[in-house]
Amino acid sequence: MKSDNPRWIALQIVLRVVDNGRSLDDIFSSSWYQSLTASARDLALSRELAFGLCRWYFALSALLAERLQKPLRERDRDIEIILLLGLYQLLVMKTGAHAAVNETVNLAKAQQKSWARGLINAVLRTVIREGVALDDEMQAQAYPDWILGRIGRDWREQAEQLLIRGNDRPPMTLRVDTRQSGIDEIIARLAADGIEAVRHKRLHCAIELPSPCEVTRLAGFAQGLLSVQDAAAQIAAGLLLCKPGARVLDACAAPGGKTMHLLQQYDDILLEALDSSESRLERLQQNLARIGKPAQLLVGDASKPDSWFSGVYYDAILADVPCSASGVMRRHPDIKLLRRESDIMPLLALQRRILDALWRLLKPGGEMLYCTCSIFKEENEVQIAKFMQRHPDCMEVKITDLDWGQQRPHGRQILTGSDNMDGFYYALLSKPGKP
Ligand SMILES: C[S@@+](CC[C@H](N)C(=O)[O-])C[C@H]1O[C@@H](n2cnc3c(N)ncnc32)[C@H](O)[C@@H]1O
Repeated sequence: MKSDNPRWIALQIVLRVVDNGRSLDDIFSSSWYQSLTASARDLALSRELAFGLCRWYFALSALLAERLQKPLRERDRDIEIILLLGLYQLLVMKTGAHAAVNETVNLAKAQQKSWARGLINAVLRTVIREGVALDDEMQAQAYPDWILGRIGRDWREQAEQLLIRGNDRPPMTLRVDTRQSGIDEIIARLAADGIEAVRHKRLHCAIELPSPCEVTRLAGFAQGLLSVQDAAAQIAAGLLLCKPGARVLDACAAPGGKTMHLLQQYDDILLEALDSSESRLERLQQNLARIGKPAQLLVGDASKPDSWFSGVYYDAILADVPCSASGVMRRHPDIKLLRRESDIMPLLALQRRILDALWRLLKPGGEMLYCTCSIFKEENEVQIAKFMQRHPDCMEVKITDLDWGQQRPHGRQILTGSDNMDGFYYALLSKPGKP
């Protein structure tokens, strides 16, 4: 049955990304994907193919275009994706030539397009004959032009490395609730279950699993001892210091990675978790239930507090704003296909409105931590420079006593892959005055 074939499933996934603009996360949690009857192993292969093809889509498309006499018709997008899947298996997965060609031809048959057999044979056999390899030039081609342009402008010297690191498969990083358990104890417990884990180089509460595994296999996950969180995201809770009794707002909170960390790190804080997405807040609720910590959940737009603000000002605010997510492309390679350059201006405007609105809700003496999972300067240091011009009362708290990322004119930037972390940006802002 074709719906049991991992390559056919991967084809359907990538078509949904390319044609319908749906994200991989969204597709994997859809009823269509959940109802597939393929074995766990085949489903894992379908995900590997879909993730991998999104990661290499632009480089492989360029390679394919050079080897086609004329572009394929719009209605033959499936054949185009089938060819790209064939190239991915050959060049990235290093599948044997015979198997890769056969599987690719079979996929065209499953789509009832046997006419494409000759084309598939010709393209794949040419690439095999030419001995094409994924070199540094192809790494740089694995991005849409507008992202290449921005990275080149923003990080001219680091651009090449940044592009290569952005194509890496990310590690599965876990945060250990070190108040419940020591890191070595957790690593030993995982080892006893046959799961290899190593300490993260910089973050004291982070461990990395060289081979990812299902969270259900992680002893202590169900009790909140462990949470999946990139090391860069684990920095937030240590920067936003919260005293007992503090009123804390997590303004763009879902699905709650940083909310959980704040609640596990600080005792007796009153935390409000706000998000504009009700469905994402449901996931946050489930996460809080898992770790057994309470927070008040609010649905609303952070840039329009009138509809949700109770009138009691905050001691600390976390503004983990919506952004381009350009720092997490290695983790979510579909971003390369889904994000458009035209998304950036509206995002910058929303970030600006959120910053301005939240600043008004901060008590004198309070601190606001602004962060993004972006590597674009406009969303980060430039956004904060403009904010500080609009709010001369704002004082930046320099994040200096740490050895991650790099100091910028405002805030600190982690570039993708540095210390094996996602690309992230932090700026800590303080409102003068006594609480
Ligand atoms: C970067 S994610 C937050 C990740 C989260 N802090 C964590 O650590 O798990 C940004 C969140 O902002 C939410 N969001 C987008 N626009 C918003 C707005 N205007 N007001 C509040 N939340 C918003 C999105 O639904 C998304 O959940």
